[in-house]
Amino acid sequence: MAEIKRVGVLGCGLMGSGIAQVCAAAGYDTLVREVSDELCQRGIGGIGKQLGKAVEKGKMAAEDRDAIVGRLRGTTKLEDLAECDIIIEAVVEDLTLKNEMWRTLDGVCGPDTIFASNTSSLTIADMAAATKRPERMVGLHFFNPVPVMKLVEVVKTIATDAQVFDTAFEFARSLGKEPIVCKDNSGFVVNLLLVPYMMDAIRCLEQGVASIEDIDKGMRLGTGYPMGPFTLSDFVGLDTLDKIGGIMFEEYKEKRYASPPLLKRMISLGYYGRKSGKGFYDYSGAEPVVMKLV
Ligand code: 3HC
Repeated sequence: MAEIKRVGVLGCGLMGSGIAQVCAAAGYDTLVREVSDELCQRGIGGIGKQLGKAVEKGKMAAEDRDAIVGRLRGTTKLEDLAECDIIIEAVVEDLTLKNEMWRTLDGVCGPDTIFASNTSSLTIADMAAATKRPERMVGLHFFNPVPVMKLVEVVKTIATDAQVFDTAFEFARSLGKEPIVCKDNSGFVVNLLLVPYMMDAIRCLEQGVASIEDIDKGMRLGTGYPMGPFTLSDFVGLDTLDKIGGIMFEEYKEKRYASPPLLKRMISLGYYGRKSGKGFYDYSGAEPVVMKLV
């Protein structure tokens, strides 16, 4: 099986920085590409801070944190990723943008480099088709927060080479994750089930089935989920949920993936969830306070 030593990560936002962190923590030289030096520094600085918390809690030695940060480098040039053995893409859910990057990388990387996407709802085949190496393209779908969540969905298309898939699967395992095998359908396994669940919770609210707090409480205490659907939607980001749902609706034309009107209105008003300070809850105080939306 091909050996992976150098990892490239495209994007150092929430998911990209988490992916870069776990790769560097697993001992890989990790090169992160962002569009500006400022975003590179912010992303890598955020990882340092995250690891600093673990040091403060006594869960990690300061030398280990320094070694992990030492394995992380940033760049703004896609060409600098030419020597990477695997490149994991974690940029916004925009197929045109992703494929522009893959085309450029296809031209500069060696023939053995594996291309992996962390897309949550686009299909891997739609990206593989933009390259001359469709057999070397897989999905590696991580979950937020990446350093904590154990799962990685490893996705094979109808064109993925079996050895490439096995290498990607073992790579996910080498990060300390639990990989599962997924077919290349929009949403893979988890989002196929999770997105309609979150959309249905919003429809329940619209229909007056119960309050935000009680629906959250019901699912936490009744099923053991760590977060209820509204807390989780705010955590994922309501704009992200809408975007993922939209792509899945386009694919399947089923109402279960469609954004309910309330979600659309919230997005129009900039209620994106935790990241904007308002969503189903208001995060401006010490504790989240439920919003009055219906
Ligand atoms: N980064 C790194 N570590 C984090 C973290 C973060 N953003 N957030 C929490 N942690 C760590 C904490 O430091 C703590 O570590 P410790 O036990 O070593 O001290 C541990 O996680 C537990 O954190 P807390 O005690 O603060 O809080 P909780 O016990 O409530 O756990 C949670 C927080 C792990 C986020 C938990 O609430 C959870 O599992 N929520 C559900 C998350 C989920 O469903 N994620 C998937 C979203 S869907 C997705 O990503 C797919 C995409 O395509 C949409």
